[in-house]
Amino acid sequence: MQSFAGAFSPRFLPVALAVFSRTQTHRLLAVCTWALTACQPSHSPSETRASDSTESQTPLPAPLADTAALDLVALKQAGGFAKPQAVTVPEDPVFHRKKHYEAVLLAGVLAKIGGYDRANPATTQVVFECADGYNPSMPLQKVLGSRAYLALRDADAPAGQDWTTVVGKTGDVKTVAPFYVVYTDVPPTDETFKWPYNLVRIRLKPAADELARLHPVGTPERGYALFRTHCLTCHALNGLGGAMGPELNFPKNITEYWEEGDLRAFVRNPASYRHGSKMPTIPENQVSESDLSEILGYLRFMAGHKLKP
Ligand code: HEC
Repeated sequence: MQSFAGAFSPRFLPVALAVFSRTQTHRLLAVCTWALTACQPSHSPSETRASDSTESQTPLPAPLADTAALDLVALKQAGGFAKPQAVTVPEDPVFHRKKHYEAVLLAGVLAKIGGYDRANPATTQVVFECADGYNPSMPLQKVLGSRAYLALRDADAPAGQDWTTVVGKTGDVKTVAPFYVVYTDVPPTDETFKWPYNLVRIRLKPAADELARLHPVGTPERGYALFRTHCLTCHALNGLGGAMGPELNFPKNITEYWEEGDLRAFVRNPASYRHGSKMPTIPENQVSESDLSEILGYLRFMAGHKLKP
């Protein structure tokens, strides 16, 4: 911290202005890697693409749309942030000092994203989309485990303004508007937390590992969604999913050694095949005949996409 603060010249620190040097960013990385966490194209993509490839042994919940997104600007215009609270950030990595914001809990904002209640925190990534196209991401579980806030306004800003400007050493002026993600309990030295600014949208996406294992390119979408809803909670494919029932894809896909007619009949009434079967019956009012065809189509497709667990 000391070396970072010392990298800036005090004469560029007028009242109510914080100093930020875009040009010095690279030099500063060595002493202060947390500078990487904001939405800037000059930052290393590898840092910000860090994704948590959690393989879950626990049952997964129902499907999450791949592209569930929330437009923050539109939400604000619609009055979606009615009750902001005063939040103090002890060490702000963009402003390099203690900061005060009007903010809302990020968890509450995420809950407004379509499909949020069906998202498994262990296998979902939160992607922060910034105005300049920079998209850092973090595991949902990590976001929910912290005191993360969406800052709506800078309480230290001069009267009549929403944000304090950040001025670079070369005189370049920038802002963190329209939205900025901050934490009250995360030290800026912890580079696994992202502090995206110029934030405009938040998206939820299945983690990369889940996409690779369960949703390779060309996946029949409806069959995948139905399988996630009705089967994945108990059955894994390529090692990812529930562990109550057997793995259905690796090393042999279930459709490679079960006749389709038997598969259909088993799913409808497992006990008619195995006395004391632990798999529940899945009646037609839960999964229709055509839904079951879609599920089997997805399973057949996955036979061509095996990955060792
Ligand atoms: C509540 C958990 C649960 C759900 C949901 C579930 N299964 Fe199962 N399934 C099991 C269990 C447990 C077994 C193990 C065998 C047994 O007890 O008969 C099993 C066995 C199977 C088998 C036989 C595998 C083998 O070779 O032994 C198939 C096929 C199967 N399930 C398909 C499905 C499909 C398709 C779905 C979704 C439509 C599904 N299951 C949903 C728990 C579940």
